[in-house]
Amino acid sequence: MKNRPLVIVIGGGLGGLWTTLRIVEAGFSVELFSLFEVKRSHSVCAQGGINAVLDTKGQRDSVRQHLIDTVKGGSYLANQPPIQSMCEEAPGLIRTFERMGVTFSRTPEGLMDLRLFGGVKNKRTCFAGASTGQQLMYGVDEQVRRHEAQGSVHKREWWEFLSLVLDNNGHCKGIIAFNLHSLEVRAFRADAVVMATGGMGKVYGHRTTNSTNSTGAAAFRCYLQGARFANAEFFQFHPTAMLGDDKTRLMSEAARGEGGRLWVPKRPDDSRDPRSIPENERFYFLEEWYPSYGNTVPRDVASRAIWKIVREQGQGVGGADKVYLDLTHLDKKFVTARLGAILDIYRKFHGSDPLESPMEIFPSAHYAMGGLWINYEKDEQSGGLKYGSPRNHATNIPGLYACGECDSGYHGANRLGANSLLSASFSGRVTGESVATYLQGLEQSSNETPSRFFAEGVAREQAINEGLLKSNGHENPYRLHDELGALMTGKVGVVRDNPTLDLAYDELLALEQRSRSVGLGDRCGWSNQSLAETRQVQEMIRLSAVITRCARARDECRGAHYKPEFRLTIPEGKFPGDPEFEAYREAWKRKNDKWLKTTLAEHDGDGPRISYEAVDTSIIPPEQPRDYR
Ligand code: FUM
Repeated sequence: MKNRPLVIVIGGGLGGLWTTLRIVEAGFSVELFSLFEVKRSHSVCAQGGINAVLDTKGQRDSVRQHLIDTVKGGSYLANQPPIQSMCEEAPGLIRTFERMGVTFSRTPEGLMDLRLFGGVKNKRTCFAGASTGQQLMYGVDEQVRRHEAQGSVHKREWWEFLSLVLDNNGHCKGIIAFNLHSLEVRAFRADAVVMATGGMGKVYGHRTTNSTNSTGAAAFRCYLQGARFANAEFFQFHPTAMLGDDKTRLMSEAARGEGGRLWVPKRPDDSRDPRSIPENERFYFLEEWYPSYGNTVPRDVASRAIWKIVREQGQGVGGADKVYLDLTHLDKKFVTARLGAILDIYRKFHGSDPLESPMEIFPSAHYAMGGLWINYEKDEQSGGLKYGSPRNHATNIPGLYACGECDSGYHGANRLGANSLLSASFSGRVTGESVATYLQGLEQSSNETPSRFFAEGVAREQAINEGLLKSNGHENPYRLHDELGALMTGKVGVVRDNPTLDLAYDELLALEQRSRSVGLGDRCGWSNQSLAETRQVQEMIRLSAVITRCARARDECRGAHYKPEFRLTIPEGKFPGDPEFEAYREAWKRKNDKWLKTTLAEHDGDGPRISYEAVDTSIIPPEQPRDYR
């Protein structure tokens, strides 16, 4: 591996694995870093499916419709050329996954089966029961293992990324990482670095569907060294998470796609067993408020509807933060075949059987639409991406790339369900190709970067670790994380307002101050989990401050970012053509002049410097406001 340009990929989920595969296929070597065994990466938790226009149901689905649904679902906030390419390539990706051995669910005739997901009218979601992420990831992992056996991939599992090594020109030439077992801090040279580090749901504490490792710390460390962060304020709350004492867990949107219904008792004080509440005493609020899409409205819409029912109308089940997700009216065999994996999770962590009794659910932090800012090059002829351009997925730090959930590329203000496995796979592939081109044009190998840059990085990170291990501070990092989660969930959640965001920011600054006085319960020099966790908590607090500042700065409602004070309301009972609806549409378009912009945050002293960047809406012009009624 020594004599060939070497790329470091950080993160072994779908994005990281795909990018690794493409880079080694182009003839380069990869060192793949992961916080744990690659096979446990968070992609494994994705349940419901992956979108691709295969149209095996004969609904005349089209790539153009996939593009329209994605763009509108995200409230027009994502650059459209990358989305066009993603939708175009999706069917081919599915065929590639099949060739890798992924066992998608099929119809009795042997066709690829498809299910309905939120925010769309056509069945477009390919799936493998309700453990699609696991099946896809294992398929790509097998391929990467082949290259590992041949020596062009070297995995470093249980290593945590701490910082980038930047040369005098600000080019990325490697990383500093630490071994989570031995605590050794070490520098690694690389000619390019790819961040594929996933989401950051843990800033919302344990009220997240994300794995315990989805902290956002790695991407934030890049931000601290000059990488731009985009659209930090857009965080998706998945409407149907099961509540748990330890954490919340995903109950796939596929449950609604396959016919699951959300409801609450009409009488708020109704304490009967849900099975004994007759139909006419149930309120199927999504079906009532959004008859056209019903239970499969997009996630931001569904989460706000639950919020309204529970928090504004006081109709949560038993007066609590929960509503029913009901599958009991469906055929048990059908539900078991399609959703078995989530039924098992619910039985295990809740103790009741969703085939017999409705599940209790509530929205929970799920997906970061924002992340590291990435560039792209548009192909003027096709309107999509210019494949192989070294600009695709490049951050603003030369030599640093990002793909998967930690980038900000594809979902604008709200991601459609099942577009995440797609964007992770597609973006990983594109990133691998652009890194290969970047390496072909590279003038200076990282071998020429003076050693002092690496030595300084190691010394700095080691000093931080030693400082924490010796600290006599009185703050408990785990308690700080609990407080952070409660603060973010309560004040920077589904519904936001400026006075509360100001309060949240002040509290985050106070929390940050306290996080400088942490004391570790464990001072052991081997496998010290609290050391790694403490550093992550410190980054999460500062990352949350960036999210909050970006949310404070955006005075509008768009997708997952909802400030009722600035809401433009669709006139009730009015549709396109009605003068009142048209007046609303005009007001919406005027609002876009100001706010249809990507938020950019750059590290500047203690706080972020915020600016805005135009969005490429060249393919689907923002003429039609979202309307799921
Ligand atoms: O609900 C789900 O199965 C989640 C899928 C996704 O986030 O894309």
